Amino acid sequence: MGPDDWIHAKNERHAMSPERETPWSLPQAPSCPTNPQDAQETQDSPVSPTPPRAETIAVCTHRFPPTSAAPPPPLHIYHAVLLLADPRDQRRRTLTLVTDSLVQPCRSRAPSASASAGWRLGARPPPARRQCRVSAAVLTAPVTTSVRGRVTHSMPPEKAEVFRSLEGWAGRSLLPLLKPVEECWQPSDFLPDSSSEMFEHDVRELRARAAGLPDEYFVVLVGDMITEEALPTYQTMINTLDGVRDETGASACPWAVWTRAWTAEENRHGDILGKYMYLSGRVDMRMVEKTVQYLICSGMDPGTENNPYLGFVYTSFQERATAVSHGNTARLARAHGDDVLARTCGTIAADEKRHETAYGRIVEQLLLLDPEGAMLAIADMMRKRITMPAHLMHDGRDMNLFDNFASVAQRLGVYTARDYADIVEFLVKRWQLENLESGLSGEGRRARDFVCGLAQRMRRAAERAEDRAKTDEPRKAKFSWIYDREVVI
Ligand SMILES: [Fe+2]
Ligand SMILES: [Fe+2]
Repeated sequence: MGPDDWIHAKNERHAMSPERETPWSLPQAPSCPTNPQDAQETQDSPVSPTPPRAETIAVCTHRFPPTSAAPPPPLHIYHAVLLLADPRDQRRRTLTLVTDSLVQPCRSRAPSASASAGWRLGARPPPARRQCRVSAAVLTAPVTTSVRGRVTHSMPPEKAEVFRSLEGWAGRSLLPLLKPVEECWQPSDFLPDSSSEMFEHDVRELRARAAGLPDEYFVVLVGDMITEEALPTYQTMINTLDGVRDETGASACPWAVWTRAWTAEENRHGDILGKYMYLSGRVDMRMVEKTVQYLICSGMDPGTENNPYLGFVYTSFQERATAVSHGNTARLARAHGDDVLARTCGTIAADEKRHETAYGRIVEQLLLLDPEGAMLAIADMMRKRITMPAHLMHDGRDMNLFDNFASVAQRLGVYTARDYADIVEFLVKRWQLENLESGLSGEGRRARDFVCGLAQRMRRAAERAEDRAKTDEPRKAKFSWIYDREVVI
């Protein structure tokens, strides 16, 4: 595969298709210059006719083609992330460049001080001669609601009032769904006690149980764990939502209290799975840790537009999806004889269900107060398809890592296209969308009909994909997480 094919494949990963074999779809890639010449053009011309507004992010991917120097240099891919930090003060906007993907050591001279100043997160700076060049026009662009095709802040300001009016309700109906810390399980409840004389014995038992789990199971469990470990991204994402964000970092507003406590509950999920994996001796922890770091660097883009209507539809779906996934890893762990891991995954799944209940209740309230707005938001997210939070996952080697992980999860029945359709159907029933009539315009009714018929259409697409898969040759992929051993995908 040549560099151009590689880029094509990368962009293909971003294409949305209702007939994908795995239920996870990816957002449309923003239009980006793909070679230095294009990057130069970017510098000289306005990037977008509708430039960015507060806290928007423009992402572009630059491909730096190999030079003719011997030995053949590697393909260089960089993601340039332009962070416009403070729209009120153009001078304070900061530029952060993050290397991404298959970046190999560069032999060119070191970057200039001004270029390296923008590099963060331990990323390898590009050589000066190849550095990403970003438009000065972007840095001085006026405020609007679109960045390189991504809509931001799409909730009209008057609708923020809906969320203000729901603060009392959130305090009464949402916060009780959180568990007091003193009543919560902690990772150490499930893991060998390192202060105990029995520690070594208990670790040996853990490793004996883990030895019965196949490699493909570990691929899925590691993928789930890495997804959980990118929690900083998810808290950030929720705090981008207008009207419900934690304005101070310690706000007493019920929305903010919920978000912090939700994060604190979620924080245990990746923690316990990571410690289990470390003790199991079955995975290459360094590659797993690198993947986590890469994923947090990459972030996520679920298409929620800083809009809490869209954001809470997304989280309602996503919490159920994670509950299904952890529930299935629990089932498989039990089938392979690891009852402790089964209990662990089942306990995580129970948390996810509680969170799903909370987010589902918020959308229920929105449907009561603003049926048209809520219905359009549900249809909007379903049209975009719900992206998995870890859709930008990679390990620095395999840019198809997420797709390969998703394929294994599909094949093992941990999370499948049919699960996706089931979740859509479940939410349609839970929110009683089929009976929703009052308060809907013609557009709202069309949105309702689209959503109510979606699960059936997805199941038919899943059946076609399964039929095709039966005739396809089985494919294998190496996973760095399990020391480059191959697994059927
Ligand atoms: Fe979780
Ligand atoms: Fe969750």
